[in-house]
Amino acid sequence: MKIQGIAQAAADWSGDAIALGFFSSEEVISLPESLGALDRKLSGAVAEILAETEFKGKSGSTSLNRIGGSAAIKKVLLVGLGDEDKWDSKAVRSTAAAIAHAVKSDKKIATLAVNLPVSEDAATTAQMITEGITLGLYTDNRYKSGDDIEEPALETVDILEIGDQSAAIALGTTLCEGTIHARELVNSPANVINPVTLVASVKELADEYGLELTVLGQAECEAQNMGAYLGVAEATDHPPQFIHLVYKPEGTPRKKVAIVGKGLTFDSGGYNIKPSGPSIAMMKMDMGGAAATFGAAKAIAALKPDVEVHFISAATENMISGSGLRPGDILTASNGKTIEVNNTDAEGRLTLADALVYAEKLDVEAIVDIATLTGACVIALGDDICGLWGDDELADAITAASDKAGEKFWKMPLESAYFESLKSPIADMKNTGARAGGSISAALFLKEFINDTPWVHLDIAGPAWSEKEADIYSKGGTGFPVRTLVHWVLS
Ligand code: BES
Ligand code: MN
Ligand code: ZN
Repeated sequence: MKIQGIAQAAADWSGDAIALGFFSSEEVISLPESLGALDRKLSGAVAEILAETEFKGKSGSTSLNRIGGSAAIKKVLLVGLGDEDKWDSKAVRSTAAAIAHAVKSDKKIATLAVNLPVSEDAATTAQMITEGITLGLYTDNRYKSGDDIEEPALETVDILEIGDQSAAIALGTTLCEGTIHARELVNSPANVINPVTLVASVKELADEYGLELTVLGQAECEAQNMGAYLGVAEATDHPPQFIHLVYKPEGTPRKKVAIVGKGLTFDSGGYNIKPSGPSIAMMKMDMGGAAATFGAAKAIAALKPDVEVHFISAATENMISGSGLRPGDILTASNGKTIEVNNTDAEGRLTLADALVYAEKLDVEAIVDIATLTGACVIALGDDICGLWGDDELADAITAASDKAGEKFWKMPLESAYFESLKSPIADMKNTGARAGGSISAALFLKEFINDTPWVHLDIAGPAWSEKEADIYSKGGTGFPVRTLVHWVLS
């Protein structure tokens, strides 16, 4: 699909469908003067459709209408823009996604014109439309065969009256490609993406963009004393793969940072097995942090900022076998700290412990970890909002970047008193604390594996997955928070 900005106005455009935006109103909307020429060209069809559908411009509402005869434009899509004073770049992106959802299953729309008011500036508007259309249109059909595959017919999208915006559209497209890369990794089931095939996918990225890739196998991780990570990997038949991908800019980097993603290609819970039902059936998504990490790597490698970025994931499965981790086992992480495993289902933090220690040894200026870490975070913040813990300044930088991405974060406390529930009578700590504040004690656990590097922890257990097609999301992996990570590195 090709998206382009053009100077042409609606009245001069011809094609399969045109999307026209209207701000919300109490009354049924009548034809605005700006659409007079288009309406005349379509023999009064636009005014007629507005009256006929009683369109009121409610945010996200759409109405797709066929125009009769041999009109130059075959369909008109009315799109509600909501409140005029709330028309910001986020609203543009969401509106474009609503347009994508409305035309997605129409086999006859190959050419589409989008006519929306500018917000901020023409370039930002074009980028937001690109993101909304691309992400809204995306459906993962890789695992379907047969006739029910719904590939959208859409071939070209012309953004009207905005001129050539190829740079902004290219940026939007690259951000979406990174996001979709992450979505596809998350959607892939655990019999397709295991630690070894995840490495193969990362190797493809490394080859395509000329990135350095180091993979530590079982023996190398043993040599680095990664006892916490290897404890989780005890029961899987797939060998653990500690993945370290590096993007280095040409010349001296302005900054050096690490992004660490939880990479549980499947989380059965281990001996503390998850109950049957959605909680275990969903656990192919438990590598959502790693997916976002490598999705961000794809976009960053394409955009080439002057920042050195290390992308890290201690990938494994959490399974059950005769050699599997038992509740009560004591593990020693690579920084020497001992952990009493009182719950084998709190495995993500064990893998992250050794990954954070490894990241800090790289002498980076900032570490961000991303993890589908706790159900407790979903209880606290719901499905749409990501919990964020850690260094204030770094948290502010992430929050600023998230605003550009339209992804939601909420700062949570690293309440040190809550470490009490992680205290173990026999080891330095347990891996599971009290049920109350469970996402906070998980963050406090991770903090034990960071010395003094500015660090932020992102719990994406809620927003990594979407149960419905809504806003820019389709059902399945969301690619959250790839775009925030990329904006953070770019800034
Ligand atoms: N991978 C899960 C967390 C999760 C839950 C991710 C829902 C996505 C959606 C994690 O490994 C886990 O099992 N956490 C436990 C921790 C508990 C044992 C302290 C949880 O949240 O129940
Ligand atoms: Mn678990
Ligand atoms: Zn998990």
